[in-house]
Amino acid sequence: MPNSMIAVFFIFVLKTVALADEVDTKIPCPDFCKCKSIDKMECSVESLPLSLPAGKFKRISFDNKGETLVDIPAPVIKMQPNTSIDTLVLQYLNISTIKTNAFEGLGNIKLLLISHSSIKKIEPYAFRNLDITKFMFLNDSIDTIESFAFSEFNASTFNIFKSNISTIQTATFNKITSKLLIALSTIEDMQAQAVSNGTLTGFIALKSRIIQFGCNNFHNISLVKIKANMTCNCNSVWLMENVLTSDANLENIICLAPPSLAGISLSQLNKTDLCNSSTITDSVCPNITLIMEYIKSNANKWDASLTMLVFIVSYILFISLK
Ligand SMILES: *[C@@H]1O[C@H](CO)[C@@H](O)[C@H](O)[C@H]1NC(C)=O
Ligand SMILES: *[C@@H]1O[C@H](CO)[C@@H](O)[C@H](O)[C@H]1NC(C)=O
Ligand SMILES: *[C@@H]1O[C@H](CO)[C@@H](O)[C@H](O)[C@H]1NC(C)=O
Ligand SMILES: *[C@@H]1O[C@H](CO)[C@@H](O)[C@H](O)[C@H]1NC(C)=O
Ligand SMILES: *[C@@H]1O[C@H](CO)[C@@H](O)[C@H](O)[C@H]1NC(C)=O
Ligand SMILES: *[C@@H]1O[C@H](CO)[C@@H](O)[C@H](O)[C@H]1NC(C)=O
Ligand SMILES: *[C@@H]1O[C@H](CO)[C@@H](O)[C@H](O)[C@H]1NC(C)=O
Ligand SMILES: *[C@@H]1O[C@H](CO)[C@@H](O)[C@H](O)[C@H]1NC(C)=O
Ligand SMILES: *[C@@H]1O[C@H](CO)[C@@H](O)[C@H](O)[C@H]1NC(C)=O
Ligand SMILES: *[C@@H]1O[C@H](CO)[C@@H](O)[C@H](O)[C@H]1NC(C)=O
Ligand SMILES: *[C@@H]1O[C@H](CO)[C@@H](O)[C@H](O)[C@H]1NC(C)=O
Repeated sequence: MPNSMIAVFFIFVLKTVALADEVDTKIPCPDFCKCKSIDKMECSVESLPLSLPAGKFKRISFDNKGETLVDIPAPVIKMQPNTSIDTLVLQYLNISTIKTNAFEGLGNIKLLLISHSSIKKIEPYAFRNLDITKFMFLNDSIDTIESFAFSEFNASTFNIFKSNISTIQTATFNKITSKLLIALSTIEDMQAQAVSNGTLTGFIALKSRIIQFGCNNFHNISLVKIKANMTCNCNSVWLMENVLTSDANLENIICLAPPSLAGISLSQLNKTDLCNSSTITDSVCPNITLIMEYIKSNANKWDASLTMLVFIVSYILFISLK
């Protein structure tokens, strides 16, 4: 794991501890919520959008054991200006749609966790105007993340952990500046230009699969410590030249087909080998099928366990909010 990621993790822990240390004056528990302590509330989804009176509310979770199909409306919380909510947890929900501007007015949120939920659709600009420290999908199953869903949104780290996503549409991550970390997850179709105009600071896939991996301008992105199989043909030239240029391990991308190239790694091939014809089309920005797998080796053991530790500690911190 890169040092920068470890740094981000510790900053996250320190920030979280710092937040936990701030003690608020007593405020009454709002209707529809159970207050575990002064600033930790668990609220009923029946009351969405939730109206909160002015107060120093800090941490809110919505939880209904997935029993009702709900929308996450815009805004999900109606409250007085100058909100102090810094942590929002949506868990065990059966969500049909996270609406555009769902988190409007919640500009102080630093941690946003969506977990154990099944989500049919995330609309464009659903997370507009959030500028957060940590965003995480955890054990979610998501049908469609629509174009521009994560536009006008910043997060220092963006984690997709133990989640299955069917479709990530074109321009979903338009102009996002986060580090994108995907672990133990499956993305069935990451459409072409999903990270369009992206300024991602990192893309790490760990024990994950991206089955249909549309063409993306991943010039600065590395798939590190990933082993993958693919059909080697002219489409692979794009991968060879645009995606895996710097840190990535081309030798770990292995051709499954055609038979003449089976078992050979991309690092040993050139454009002519791949295309096997005179019609090499540089302009092609193809979709490819890349079955990925994390490399298990002694050299990577420490990195892997540290990454898992980041998730586990993050998870415990979030769960302790309940
Ligand atoms: C979620 O709601 C849909 C539609 O009502 C229903 O078919 C599905 O079984 C629900 N899922 C869960 C986990 O309850
Ligand atoms: C909200 O914050 C702004 C600037 O931080 C301040 O000018 C304003 O008075 C605050 N409003 C309320 C209702 O506290
Ligand atoms: C996201 O970060 C960029 C660059 O720092 C900034 O211009 C933009 O206003 C930020 N957006 C939000 C919603 O905070
Ligand atoms: C994701 O898919 C895998 C395999 O299809 C399944 O075992 C796992 O339970 C799914 N996870 C979620 C959160 O739906
Ligand atoms: C993930 O979610 C699924 C379905 O909600 C559940 O059956 C499973 O136990 C969860 N896994 C973990 C590790 O929480
Ligand atoms: C990316 O940026 C270019 C130029 O700034 C613009 O023409 C194009 O529409 C953008 N693409 C998307 C999907 O936003
Ligand atoms: C890639 O990253 C380097 C620094 O890490 C930066 O100088 C360069 O501008 C980036 N290139 C693009 C195309 O974003
Ligand atoms: C590509 O590699 C083959 C050997 O695998 C070699 O014969 C050929 O000259 C190379 N072509 C180029 C353009 O480097
Ligand atoms: C290249 O094409 C020739 C003739 O079509 C074929 O015999 C050969 O197996 C092909 N090589 C590869 C690597 O596909
Ligand atoms: C890539 O796949 C998408 C569907 O996921 C399709 O709309 C698009 O046309 C494909 N692009 C290419 C170049 O094949
Ligand atoms: C790649 O293919 C080989 C040979 O068929 C297989 O053993 C391996 O599990 C595959 N790896 C992935 C990541 O699918």
